[in-house]
Amino acid sequence: MVQYRRFYLIAIFVFLAMLFLLTKSLLPGRRLMGGFRKMGGHSDRQDPIDWSRFAYVQYVTNLPYLCNSVMLFEALHRLGCMPDRLMMYPDHFSLEDNSTEAILLRKARDEYKVILKPIEVQRRGGNDPTWAESYTKLLAFNQTDYQRILHLDSDSTVLQNLDELFFIEPAFVAMPRAYWLGFQDRILSSQLLLLQPNKHEFDRVMKATSGAGGDDYDMDLLNNLYKDNALVLPHRPYDLLTGEFRGEEHSKYIGDGSKSWDPDYFYKECKFLHFSDWPLPKPWIATKHAVDEAKPPCRTDPKTNQTLCREQEIWVDAYADYRRRRKEVCDMIV
Ligand SMILES: *[C@@H]1O[C@H](CO)[C@@H](O)[C@H](O)[C@H]1NC(C)=O
Ligand SMILES: *[C@@H]1O[C@H](CO)[C@@H](O)[C@H](O)[C@H]1NC(C)=O
Ligand SMILES: *[C@@H]1O[C@H](CO)[C@@H](O)[C@H](O)[C@H]1NC(C)=O
Repeated sequence: MVQYRRFYLIAIFVFLAMLFLLTKSLLPGRRLMGGFRKMGGHSDRQDPIDWSRFAYVQYVTNLPYLCNSVMLFEALHRLGCMPDRLMMYPDHFSLEDNSTEAILLRKARDEYKVILKPIEVQRRGGNDPTWAESYTKLLAFNQTDYQRILHLDSDSTVLQNLDELFFIEPAFVAMPRAYWLGFQDRILSSQLLLLQPNKHEFDRVMKATSGAGGDDYDMDLLNNLYKDNALVLPHRPYDLLTGEFRGEEHSKYIGDGSKSWDPDYFYKECKFLHFSDWPLPKPWIATKHAVDEAKPPCRTDPKTNQTLCREQEIWVDAYADYRRRRKEVCDMIV
């Protein structure tokens, strides 16, 4: 009996070993996974994905936004993001002289492999110049050399690689909801905008801008056009406001209520963090003092009376990190 058992065991083992070798050599998926595993460089010959069909895109209208944009491309470069990086910059900026603009543009091109595309800044009526020029973002629809584009607002920090977004199912436009406004009106946030460039859509979008009212900006316009047919991206983990760490109420962000608020958990999960702490100005304008004044307080855990400061630490770190990178990347001090 013992002899037979050993024989069967060996036979089963040999059979399983052959099955393993067979699937290993036949399954095409293995090569694909090998390609994914080596996301570090463009030179991987086994990589079957044509990344040049995809691009991360930014628009720039002035010097502060140029710096933000270079900082964001630095992050995408550092995180090993594979698609092209395309910057739409005002065509009156020089690339050749020694102005701060030219130095930053060359740095983006040479150090972070950014493709520079001169464009005409799009202005429409409106009181706030930053918002009036936000229409420039819509030129992303015109970048038809690419199948898919991810436009990221540059008053933000990319915390993790976002390459997976380029592979979600086709849709002219995909955006997360502006979760902080609640979900009643189903408002989409244009801070993260995944789109398929297309001549017809571009014409449609441009036509809509000419009819836009004084207080309509890119987000209003995109909502008017795509509210009912955009693909909705989950705002977790793709769109978190820094202001979330100052608030008391987190159910809109958490969404399904399956988890209670835990600042470390949600910060670690998040891939794209947007600076928004109204009335605190944006981080390249707010002084160090103003940021310090606006930081969230520590809380007291009602159950244990322990003092909890993680919201404050995470928030303060986000602003300090922005300040540090602005110095390192742009040599600019807030
Ligand atoms: C820019 O600066 C470099 C080094 O300081 C200098 O060699 C070059 O001539 C300058 N170029 C212009 C256009 O001023
Ligand atoms: C859109 O793209 C086309 C082709 O590249 C270009 O000729 C045109 O000037 C662009 N339109 C705008 C408003 O930038
Ligand atoms: C927390 O502090 C309050 C007020 O100081 C006190 O009444 C309460 O017993 C404390 N609770 C615990 C769990 O220590």
